[in-house]
Amino acid sequence: MRVLVTGARGMLGRDLCDILSGGHEVTGVDIEQGDITDAEVARRLMADARPQTVVHCAAYTDVDRSESEPDDAFRVNADGAGNVAAACRDAGCAIVYISTDYVFDGRAERPYKENDAPAPLGVYGASKLAGERLVREATPRHFVVRTSWLFGAGGRNFVDTIIGLAQDRETLEVVNDQVGSPTFTRHLSRGLARVIESDKFGTYHASNAGSCSWFDFAREILRAWGDSRTRVVPVDSARLGRPAKRPALSVLDTTLFRSTFGFPMPHWKDALAEYLELKRRSAH
Ligand SMILES: NC(=O)c1ccc[n+]([C@@H]2O[C@H](COP(=O)([O-])OP(=O)(O)OC[C@H]3O[C@@H](n4cnc5c(N)ncnc54)[C@H](OP(=O)(O)O)[C@@H]3O)[C@@H](O)[C@H]2O)c1
Repeated sequence: MRVLVTGARGMLGRDLCDILSGGHEVTGVDIEQGDITDAEVARRLMADARPQTVVHCAAYTDVDRSESEPDDAFRVNADGAGNVAAACRDAGCAIVYISTDYVFDGRAERPYKENDAPAPLGVYGASKLAGERLVREATPRHFVVRTSWLFGAGGRNFVDTIIGLAQDRETLEVVNDQVGSPTFTRHLSRGLARVIESDKFGTYHASNAGSCSWFDFAREILRAWGDSRTRVVPVDSARLGRPAKRPALSVLDTTLFRSTFGFPMPHWKDALAEYLELKRRSAH
């Protein structure tokens, strides 16, 4: 199958191109090949690659900065997604739109299902939700795949940040009042490989299994990395005073994804161990 991946230079895009290349003819594009906020450019990218499926990963992903740059976030995450989806419709091709747990407000007391009402707390989540709607309106041949707390080798991620900070500090303060599911980009990419081979269009939740707070995640990162010296201290989000509010609980219920695509996502601790093993090997 010919597959076009947007945002191919990003954290998810890189692993996705690598994994899909095993069985498909993959073209990866990013901002250098064209800005998807321009509808003509989106059409040109499609005409050049002639894909049968597009996996749309390109996005404005700076959650805090989007609070002060809402127009930019909406231009990329909503209008850009709408442009790509319209180009897909016109070319008769399917689209997979990658969305986020941040479309939810985090007040639920159980993992979120696909049909739970979204209510984003910040601009980033609102812009991604607007993107979801435009994709659904543009073409019935869509998958909206919401995921969460990505980490992978192709970008700045929480795992590397914690390991980097621990080199210079004895104590790290990490928030303990946000709970979610860390997700390894290589595992998500393997799941997405199943998605593109199916015609079961719709909205799905896909993240690694299990859940934790950022504090739990940081502790497990250092334990698995072999750092027993650095102390991790739990703090409330309010103490960090970041511009964007985040959901308190944004765990996604992935039952539908698993039963539809037959791909059980591994536990986040196994995902972390696999990522750290790759990180160790690439350091040598
Ligand atoms: N990271 C997470 O924790 C997370 C969680 C849930 C969902 N998601 C979603 O998963 C997808 C992939 O996330 P990621 O973390 O891999 O993102 P990322 O590393 O920020 O990659 C996104 C890529 O899109 C490019 N891009 C931005 N604006 C563009 C435009 N106008 N035209 C063309 N390309 C553009 C970016 O280029 P520049 O770097 O030059 O801007 C970047 O290379 C996104 O849709 C994101 O919303 C991410």
